Amino acid sequence: MTSATIDPETFKAIMANAPGPATVVTAFDAAGEPHGLTVSAVCSVSLDPPLALACLDLGSNTLAALRESGGFTINYLADGRHQVALGFATKSGAKFEGHSWVAPEGKVGGPILIEHVAAHAACETERLIDAGDHVIAVGRVVEGGAHEVLHAMAYARRQFFTGRDVVIERSEG
Ligand SMILES: Cc1cc2nc3c(=O)[nH]c(=O)nc-3n(C[C@H](O)[C@H](O)[C@H](O)COP(=O)(O)O)c2cc1C
Repeated sequence: MTSATIDPETFKAIMANAPGPATVVTAFDAAGEPHGLTVSAVCSVSLDPPLALACLDLGSNTLAALRESGGFTINYLADGRHQVALGFATKSGAKFEGHSWVAPEGKVGGPILIEHVAAHAACETERLIDAGDHVIAVGRVVEGGAHEVLHAMAYARRQFFTGRDVVIERSEG
């Protein structure tokens, strides 16, 4: 067993290569106020039951809201919404100003940024797992939807890009 760890800069350089979805993870706090932050550490976990996860920094204000309400929504930002991603990657208390949003129909999960999403998944928090300086929020997806036309943005190496840049298409099956 070794306790050696890689240096942070090399770690970041490696991880920056892995494209992740450009999402805004949102949650309501106990008072019903909306919170949200830009998150690329998001992925699907399980189909049965339908689970997804998001990794949130321990210092995130949105994580504090998520702990209070027991739910969150993953907003997969659509093509061209990089300014929205940058806006939600701040500590501003006015991140939702100028953005339309609705609550999920079943009231479980956070605000849906209706004008900016290619898809969204509203989740009931299933588990919060401590992992270093982050928390892995595992959510059961209770409702959501995907736009037929809009493509979601991805993020890697400090660049936003979309699934429109097809190199080769995988065949069915
Ligand atoms: C492209 C991009 C991806 C990010 N991914 C994450 C992430 O996966 N997890 C995280 O906690 N913060 C991530 N951040 C940083 C947060 O968005 C940022 O710390 C934010 O200010 C936190 O806001 P809050 O404290 O209001 O929740 C990312 C930022 C950018 C620009």
